[in-house]
Amino acid sequence: MVTIEKLAEILATSSKEAEKLLIEPYVDVFFQRERISPKGDGIISNNSWINQFYQEDNLIVMKKLLEEGYMGKIDLIYIDPPFFTKTKYNSKVFLYHEEGEDIIEYFAYDDTWEDGLSSYLKMLCTRLFLMKELLSNKGTIYVHLDYRTVHYVKIIMDQIFGGENFLNEIIWAYKSGGVSKRYYSRKHDNILVYTKGKNYIFNPQKEKSYNRGFKPYGFKGVKEYKDELGWYTLVNLKDVWQIDMVGRTSKERVGYDTQKPEKLLERIILTSSSEDSLVADFFAGSGTTGVVADRLNRKWIMADMGAQSSLTTVKRLVENNSTPFYIYKPNIREEKVGKLCLKRIGIEKNKGINGLHIELDRYEVDLSKINIKDKDRERINEIWTKNSLSLLDFIGIDTDYKGNSPNLRWQYYRNNKRNLDSIINIKIDEIKEGQKIFIRYVDVFGNDNFMIYKIGNDKTILNVLN
Ligand SMILES: C[S@@+](CC[C@H](N)C(=O)[O-])C[C@H]1O[C@@H](n2cnc3c(N)ncnc32)[C@H](O)[C@@H]1O
Repeated sequence: MVTIEKLAEILATSSKEAEKLLIEPYVDVFFQRERISPKGDGIISNNSWINQFYQEDNLIVMKKLLEEGYMGKIDLIYIDPPFFTKTKYNSKVFLYHEEGEDIIEYFAYDDTWEDGLSSYLKMLCTRLFLMKELLSNKGTIYVHLDYRTVHYVKIIMDQIFGGENFLNEIIWAYKSGGVSKRYYSRKHDNILVYTKGKNYIFNPQKEKSYNRGFKPYGFKGVKEYKDELGWYTLVNLKDVWQIDMVGRTSKERVGYDTQKPEKLLERIILTSSSEDSLVADFFAGSGTTGVVADRLNRKWIMADMGAQSSLTTVKRLVENNSTPFYIYKPNIREEKVGKLCLKRIGIEKNKGINGLHIELDRYEVDLSKINIKDKDRERINEIWTKNSLSLLDFIGIDTDYKGNSPNLRWQYYRNNKRNLDSIINIKIDEIKEGQKIFIRYVDVFGNDNFMIYKIGNDKTILNVLN
């Protein structure tokens, strides 16, 4: 618990920290920018917007955005930060092999706080100051929390956004396993909603309201509908939302702990943004906000500092056939732990059509450098020894790499319970001597690496460049 005096101190220090950050000169850390085009459209137009995912601490991301002119440009911010649960969260990693599959849990993010609640609140509070700067005059911010900290954060939000701009506290109620004999079972989250000012976007959404007895009322001028339960009318959404959690059998489940349902984000995005709006989520997790925003024709920016988050989000967006997006990563900080080895790479002509032919051989990786739980290490080693490619999760290819920022028009990833194909064939329209091929690959733990090849003078041989 923190006292009111302590809360005031947290607000004051966070405000100073945010101010300092705003005036400090900005040094760009994002040396790795790759464009991913799930629909394969490789045309880069300077005018059209491209969505952005940053794999970095959101404080750095927000500083960059403010530096680049995003002040007052975002119409909707939804955040689902850690809840102060004092738990480490995982992402499920499926390993497929001849006998079936193994599921291991791999670290995704940490919600433990060495210095307790004050350090958690300070982390959030500093970031909320920056979010206010990014929010447009018609903007709204949704802060998703639960009983552990919502009461403190509401006071913080009142101070930062102004008590008069408080719009709602949404109760998201759900069913989930586990009940308590010592207190009422906790089956809801709290979402605080604040606007930047008075002229905010608000498109009321409708929900079903069942008639008493499920019978028709027949009131004049009131439209009534019927479904399998009975008669109902459509009313504007109330502040208690009953939406199922992403359960074990749910189709949208991607295996990332704490993944939120798309329906929840759909309501928020439809209500508090328009088709031309920019929507942001600075604690992106499995990328739910971006996936839904994209489907609803909104522009989006997301950030998350975890490698598992970026891996999960990229695959999810590709699978959803999303519009192109950039993935930004900071300068290569860690040493590369994995290396993909090819059996063959070359240009082949088939019925007059040029094709890039790639045969994967093996994935060399130093498992001792990966933070695997002891209980899983032996099993992973066994699976990797039998088929090292089973640890490879994603491959993105730019067949006409111009340097700096690759455009990964071709993506290959594991899905439908099978590993990546070891043979890749890509149709290439035009081949020039000196043309470069960029291959990005990521393993199931989120470690990435790349290689570049160059087309030689007989236009069939590719020479390694790195
Ligand atoms: C509760 S999860 C978000 C889940 C997400 N709403 C979804 O549907 O999957 C919180 C996320 O915040 C990320 N995170 C925590 N602190 C962060 C920070 N300072 N900067 C960026 N991301 C952070 C964690 O890596 C984690 O993925």
